[in-house]
Amino acid sequence: MGVSQEAIQSGPGRHALFLTLVVGASEVAARAVRQLGADLAGLVRTVGHRDESAALSCVLAIGADAWERLVPGRSRPAQLHPFRALEDATRRAPSTPGDLLLHIRAERADFCHELGRMIIGSLGSAVQVVDETQGFSYMDSRDLIGFVDGTENPGGEARREATIVGDEDPAHAGGSYITVQRYVTDLDRWQQTPTAEQERVIGRTKAEGIELDGPPTAHKERAKLVRDGVEKKILRQNRPWGTTRESGTYFIAYARDLSVTEAMLERMFIADADGLYDHLLDFTHPVTGVNFFAPAVDVLESLAATDGAAAAEVPADETLGIGSLRESELFPTRGTPTKPKKAS
Ligand code: HEM
Repeated sequence: MGVSQEAIQSGPGRHALFLTLVVGASEVAARAVRQLGADLAGLVRTVGHRDESAALSCVLAIGADAWERLVPGRSRPAQLHPFRALEDATRRAPSTPGDLLLHIRAERADFCHELGRMIIGSLGSAVQVVDETQGFSYMDSRDLIGFVDGTENPGGEARREATIVGDEDPAHAGGSYITVQRYVTDLDRWQQTPTAEQERVIGRTKAEGIELDGPPTAHKERAKLVRDGVEKKILRQNRPWGTTRESGTYFIAYARDLSVTEAMLERMFIADADGLYDHLLDFTHPVTGVNFFAPAVDVLESLAATDGAAAAEVPADETLGIGSLRESELFPTRGTPTKPKKAS
């Protein structure tokens, strides 16, 4: 079984930088990304060794639409597909573009910045940054809504069990599915809501995070997934994000089984036969939605060799000097973000 990217098991980090990139359509652009797969560990070491206590880490993951191009010759992970947009009444979860995700975490914001800058610098005009979000730790591990987030995350061996693909997909064992959504929260409205009602929306007490018994529309109840009597877990490493005018939650979930995250989302967004949905969605809405797969380390490191094989097809002088290419050459087929679709 492939060795998983170590950073998948890291904590959420006091600081995080979430970079969603779209890769140019040319082979030159794809090659720049494959090279990054091989160089990433070295870049993390270069920045991280200056202060080990900063615990710098980075996960690199590939989007469904870019898989065949960036990882030629290796079948797509069994469950990797574009994010499935959801819509019901006023609740919408859009599907937006993303070929590459960099999830950078550290105890120091400057380390996240430095690594992000180096990576984007090394990719040059091979990529467009379609979402760049800085996440931060707020108070004692709370979301901006004032509730502790992450309590029910699996720990220890259960964490690996919940996040790392195993024998069910041998070609991709050691990898992990990632779903990201950037939520914008109506904090004014939230803050005007009495604490007792906020606690019913989350399903936990605000100060101590103690579980309440229901109601069935509580976030805790709608996000809980039980299949065949077994509770299914994902690993959430959400971070608050924001400016003084707009803010919310950057949701990021690692899963061994993408359908678990998808089923949770469906329970949250789509009202069931009794009209029940997640009332947290009355206060917050996602503006992005992308699925990725973080391949095992050996797959990432082998990408540069794939590059070598492909190099035979391009002129010898066409190196990574892609800065001179016009954007239209790098991104000939890129359009506007996908429109949300009605749930089927
Ligand atoms: C604005 C977005 C979100 C916020 C602010 C938020 C916040 C929270 C909070 C405060 C809790 C209770 C503490 C905990 O167990 O971590 C929680 C639990 C949970 N959330 Fe979220 N969440 C958000 C989105 C999501 C999404 C999109 C999913 C899944 C697709 C999700 C899945 C879960 C799960 C599985 C639990 C644990 C439920 C349990 O078993 O008790 N959350 N969330």
